[in-house]
Amino acid sequence: MITPVILCGGSGTRLWPLSRKSYPKQFSALMGEESLFQASTKRLGGSQFNQPVVVTADAFRFIAVQQLQEIGIDPGAVLIEPAGRDTGPAVLAAALHLQNTDPNGLMLVAPSDHVIPDDALFTSTVEAAIPAALAGQLVTFGITPDRPETGYGYLELDAAPVDAGTPIPLKSFVEKPDSTRAAEMLAEGRYLWNAGIFLFCVKTIIAAYQNTAPAIYEAVAQAIADAQADLGFLRLAPEPWADAPAISIDYAVMEKAQNLSVVPYTGRWSDLGDWAAVWRETETDGMAASGQTTAIDCQNTLLRSEIDGQQLVGIGLQDIVAIAMPDAVLISTKDRAQDVKQAVSQLKAND
Ligand code: GDD
Ligand code: MG
Repeated sequence: MITPVILCGGSGTRLWPLSRKSYPKQFSALMGEESLFQASTKRLGGSQFNQPVVVTADAFRFIAVQQLQEIGIDPGAVLIEPAGRDTGPAVLAAALHLQNTDPNGLMLVAPSDHVIPDDALFTSTVEAAIPAALAGQLVTFGITPDRPETGYGYLELDAAPVDAGTPIPLKSFVEKPDSTRAAEMLAEGRYLWNAGIFLFCVKTIIAAYQNTAPAIYEAVAQAIADAQADLGFLRLAPEPWADAPAISIDYAVMEKAQNLSVVPYTGRWSDLGDWAAVWRETETDGMAASGQTTAIDCQNTLLRSEIDGQQLVGIGLQDIVAIAMPDAVLISTKDRAQDVKQAVSQLKAND
């Protein structure tokens, strides 16, 4: 059995103004009826899986539990981070929590902001990764790249993958390259994107942190040892937690570890990281719209209105993202969608 570890503590700033500090994108119904968090948790609800462990921020603990209740899922544990330290400390906290009950068990780390429509193919790909994980590998899942994306990690293979669904040893892991390096890796054809989903044994990942990220290990081990149960949540101890370096698992462990494998995933997969990604997932005939919108002669454009009773009208637009919320409106060209992050920092600075 595999324990899903669902990470849902990120703030999703590039999807501002829909994604907010108090209600980030993973809890919004960005696509369809369910939130991305609900869809991600449900995907890992089959008979191969134990109850999930959810790792989140203090501010999102009630949203997370309420959304799980809505879909009838009872979490095994909800770990509360006293402050956001990125995914590196969050994954280790889950591993150390599981060590108490199931040190030889498997854990599947899953983000909560992805679209993976084919649940059955996804589950069978995870099952294909089990032997490698039991043999002590840190297993990643690889997506065939179709553009020189700089927001993802890249997985280097010896040769182009031939067999989808089989674990292959990795040569190296390159997290978020610059655009020149990303274009080189795309052209070489020996690289896959890191899906941001990982399968490993609890004891393997703990040993990896001890080797590659001892400062995280020291801080998080203490934060788990001193954790307090609080209304069904497990609250990590704030003082040791504050000493944990804020760094993602990709930089802290994956770029440095030697025992990496990848299982190629051939189904549809998307990280809804920015508005351009939402556009790619929702577009039909070169347009994507939701809410009360009217588009006249618009192309490659995303229009979205979340304001009750107010119409958003686009005329003759090309490659534009327009998102209307009651208190903020974003208008951007599609190729600058990543820069929404910059706008959010500027707004914060002016607060
Ligand atoms: N609990 C917790 N605490 N969760 C967090 C934190 C945190 O401090 N920070 C981020 N998360 C959650 C996010 O909510 C998301 O579900 C997941 O962890 C991944 O974080 P992102 O911030 O979205 O990572 P990324 O997309 O930039 O990069 C990762 O995913 C890419 C694919 O989507 C990396 O693994 C890349 O290598 C990968 O290509
Ligand atoms: Mg992401």
